[in-house]
Amino acid sequence: MSIIESVLNETRVFLPSKEFAKKANIRNIERYHELCAEAEQDFQSFWARQANEQILWHKPFTQILDDRTPPFYKWFVDGELNISYNCLDRHLPTQGDKIAIIFESDDGEVLHCSYRELHQRVCQFANTLKLQNIKKGDRVIIYMPMRIEAVIAMQACARIGAIHSVVFGGFSAKSLHERIVDAKAVAIITADEQVRGGKHNALKATVDEAMSMADTESVKRVVVYKRTGAQVAFEAPRDVWWHEITHDVSTQCEPEWVNAEHPLFTLYTSGSTGKPKGVQHSSAGYLLGTKVSMQWIFDYQPSDIFWCTADVGWITGHSYVCYGPLAMGATQVIFEGIPTYPHAGRFWEIIQKHSVTTFYTAPTAIRSLIKLGGDLPAQYDLSSLRLLGSVGEPINPEAWMWFYEKVGQSRCPIVDTWWQTETGCHMIAPMPGAVALKPGSCTFPLPGIFASIVDEAGHDVENGKGGFLVIKNPFPSQIRTLWGDTERFKKAYFPEEMGHGKYYLAGDSAYRDHDGYFWIMGRIDDVLNVSGHRLGTMEIESALVAHPLVAEAAVVGKPHEIKGEAVVAFVVLKSQYPHDKAAAEITDVLREWVAKEIGPIAKPEEIRFGENLPKTRSGKIMRRLLRALAKGEEITQDISTLENPAILEQLKRPTQ
Ligand code: WTA
Repeated sequence: MSIIESVLNETRVFLPSKEFAKKANIRNIERYHELCAEAEQDFQSFWARQANEQILWHKPFTQILDDRTPPFYKWFVDGELNISYNCLDRHLPTQGDKIAIIFESDDGEVLHCSYRELHQRVCQFANTLKLQNIKKGDRVIIYMPMRIEAVIAMQACARIGAIHSVVFGGFSAKSLHERIVDAKAVAIITADEQVRGGKHNALKATVDEAMSMADTESVKRVVVYKRTGAQVAFEAPRDVWWHEITHDVSTQCEPEWVNAEHPLFTLYTSGSTGKPKGVQHSSAGYLLGTKVSMQWIFDYQPSDIFWCTADVGWITGHSYVCYGPLAMGATQVIFEGIPTYPHAGRFWEIIQKHSVTTFYTAPTAIRSLIKLGGDLPAQYDLSSLRLLGSVGEPINPEAWMWFYEKVGQSRCPIVDTWWQTETGCHMIAPMPGAVALKPGSCTFPLPGIFASIVDEAGHDVENGKGGFLVIKNPFPSQIRTLWGDTERFKKAYFPEEMGHGKYYLAGDSAYRDHDGYFWIMGRIDDVLNVSGHRLGTMEIESALVAHPLVAEAAVVGKPHEIKGEAVVAFVVLKSQYPHDKAAAEITDVLREWVAKEIGPIAKPEEIRFGENLPKTRSGKIMRRLLRALAKGEEITQDISTLENPAILEQLKRPTQ
């Protein structure tokens, strides 16, 4: 495979500096190996020790793992705790005045919120939710801008045991509706508008549109945070203003103690069918994963100013904005805007302004910033930085080197963290004081995570060979089930042929090099990774086919310089094959349509029209051919099973 060859040539190795290692939580490779050995000897006891050390239990657990009904694992089975208590109350006696959140708005306004203040606001909002009749186990949709209030809403749900489901603010009314219905949500927390890059984006109006669709009767309340004061429609008694209903509400709120396995949240993500999956996480296991990874991988130090640029609409924003940093008692930056507004140096300006020490972002952001101003970091004082992180997709060695040299000034290790919505926290990532880095490799699994590369039959492949990435043992932070679809959960992640249904199948292909380093190659299913966001090709196809002009559609990815991967759609219209202007016009219409059906992130980069799609005699679309066409490759593959070879000529180039 060509990817393997290209990265196998990567010979640069970056050892942790003595300076960094001296102060690190895990100071050398021996300590990492010791932890791994402890876990290998008895992974249950290993995780039990961590759980006792890291979590404040209301009622301690007596049983570690219930593995009687794989893959439905239960961790710390009879323990009781509260997540918000572990993120907030626990810090009050020791560091109530420490700043929890440094918030910077799109237009540069800065707010500071201490642990004490955050605790009060979360308690007040938790009480408010209770007054609105929201109870433990109820599902609450959060569709909010990236502001302190989003964290307050999530933490308040956790405090009362309600299950939050955050929907990224860029999703359309239709996507939001799908999630409301699937979760049978009782409430939605939203804002009048969202402001990013100087642009106002209506959130409440989108909620209204979603609520006007079928089967939304479960929703009894829509809580609206006033961000801009824009005019919004209000439907009494369903809609209420955040500031009105919280006014005068007590700031004392006894946490709801929940079982270790109580669902903390569901988060919808794309899979290989048209329907997004509601990934369900537990309370204790999830919290434990976010906490240990903060210490091992982000090498958390109390003096850190931590900044993860992810939106709370994605798992990264859950684990490394809302939960991990607060559980550690960290000071973190939350930024409402985008990296390029009002100028391409905004990220570097924020790092300088708030003395950020740990900066965690996505390769797509790095690539776009290189393009817009590769020399800009030199104009800012980035000397506060000590650690950099990357997540969401493989980071190409060129981007890695730029990040290392220009941003980290060849001083800061880069932790390339491989993980997923389903794993809850980092799975394969370097301990920065211990592991020598190779640009483009996420290095080694965390202690207690038995990752491997296997073939179709679930057998380990040797180093240097590509295969399926699996995790062979249960681990505390793993997905518990798919909301309302246990069958799909089993089938998608624990196929029978992989370790008799006991291996977690990640859905990525990968290989290990001759030093045992892991290198991720990409998805093995019909999931694209566009700017670090997961998009199901089937979802986009369903959206396209739902348009009255479209008869058939197939969606594939092609490599893209900045986004990593871009969406290419092959479309057959119900009417005739379009030429020239008609093709351009229909392309615009369909792109807008997809933005409306799913969200702007899913808009096809390119649409090619055909009188048909390449199909086998049994009518199956041959996607591998479409992938080659999208990349502009010559078709050298076997096309003997193709029913209509002539169609390839038409689909070869953009429609003219
Ligand atoms: C990809 C994001 C290479 C991978 C936390 C995975 C990565 C999917 C990396 C999960 C990385 C994530 N190197 N690929 N460091 N991190 N991926 O659920 O394909 O949004 O399966 O979680 O992103 O995306 P998700």
